[in-house]
Amino acid sequence: MLPVLLVLVLAAVNPCISDDDISVDKPKPTPTPYHDWDYIVYSQRWPITGCSQWKEKSPKNTCNLPQDNSTWVVHGLWPTKTGQKGPLFCPSALHFDPEQLRPVMKEMQDFWPNVEANTKPDSFWKHEWGKHGTCAASLPVLNSVINYFKKGLEWNQQYKISALLAKSKIVPNPQGYNISEIYQAVRSATGKNPIVQCVVDEKKQSLISEIQICFDKTLDLIHCNVTGALPDGEILTDCSRKKDVMYFATVPNNASLELEFDEFFGDHEPSIDTCIENYYLERELLKVYRLIKFLMWFTL
Ligand SMILES: *[C@@H]1O[C@H](CO)[C@@H](O)[C@H](O)[C@H]1NC(C)=O
Ligand SMILES: *[C@@H]1O[C@H](CO)[C@@H](O)[C@H](O)[C@H]1NC(C)=O
Ligand SMILES: *[C@@H]1O[C@H](CO)[C@@H](O)[C@H](O)[C@H]1NC(C)=O
Ligand SMILES: *[C@@H]1O[C@H](CO)[C@@H](O)[C@H](O)[C@H]1NC(C)=O
Repeated sequence: MLPVLLVLVLAAVNPCISDDDISVDKPKPTPTPYHDWDYIVYSQRWPITGCSQWKEKSPKNTCNLPQDNSTWVVHGLWPTKTGQKGPLFCPSALHFDPEQLRPVMKEMQDFWPNVEANTKPDSFWKHEWGKHGTCAASLPVLNSVINYFKKGLEWNQQYKISALLAKSKIVPNPQGYNISEIYQAVRSATGKNPIVQCVVDEKKQSLISEIQICFDKTLDLIHCNVTGALPDGEILTDCSRKKDVMYFATVPNNASLELEFDEFFGDHEPSIDTCIENYYLERELLKVYRLIKFLMWFTL
């Protein structure tokens, strides 16, 4: 009971964690009451971490991993209204049909794969379109299914996360990296402040999970801290600052990621200004979260 209560508290205060988990059947999506937006959060995932999370949920789960073991894959383009999450699930006459992606199917499979392999074919793309693409489509350049996905593929080539990180000598390894190093690597390669997200495993390791960069409506790269300057030395992340963050090359055997961090926090899209506000609180709560995780494990 105590953990449940604490989890609710955590859910109420942490909007920074994106939960775009398509692998779980969710209740009927609730559209946001607003459809307008100010900027796009472009999210890429480290598929190794995604796969670890997925396999942990069930030993039967399988993954689609890119052939090129260095590829960070697209998660999605998320239109965002300043200070809000979303808009999400906008009314739209444009319906997703995988046929529309035929011209780019090979690229979709290589760079925007559904890592969670044993789910309905195309469910990931359909989800991204319904939740985010329908809202993005108000921008002429993203006004169709194919244009939305093509832009995601294009940015994946233009902003290759593994290459950006490698410029600062950050490559997958078993030891991990200080989150500041990872953050600064992306910042110095792009010139803008990104968002870096992690999941926490039951060994209390922080595993790198998503790196997000932000674009304005002219599709120019912007700082993800759209509503205010970042305090000196501050970074936009939910990753551990006390321990090195893991950037594994391969999915560990018997992946032991139990409950992923964002499952705890519910269906939240990033909202960076709130993230900054809640940043200090969050750090404290993260400790509590880890304690809960430990206790839950301990009492099983
Ligand atoms: C974001 O933070 C940086 C400092 O890291 C600052 O230079 C920039 O002006 C901030 N962006 C906005 C829109 O406030
Ligand atoms: C990471 O680097 C920052 C800045 O250099 C430092 O304050 C922090 O203690 C380091 N964290 C770890 C886990 O070493
Ligand atoms: C990725 O694959 C290449 C070529 O097969 C191999 O040399 C390299 O060690 C692999 N890298 C990782 C991180 O597994
Ligand atoms: C993984 O788990 C299985 C079953 O629980 C066990 O038989 C196997 O030895 C484990 N493998 C590793 C590498 O720990």
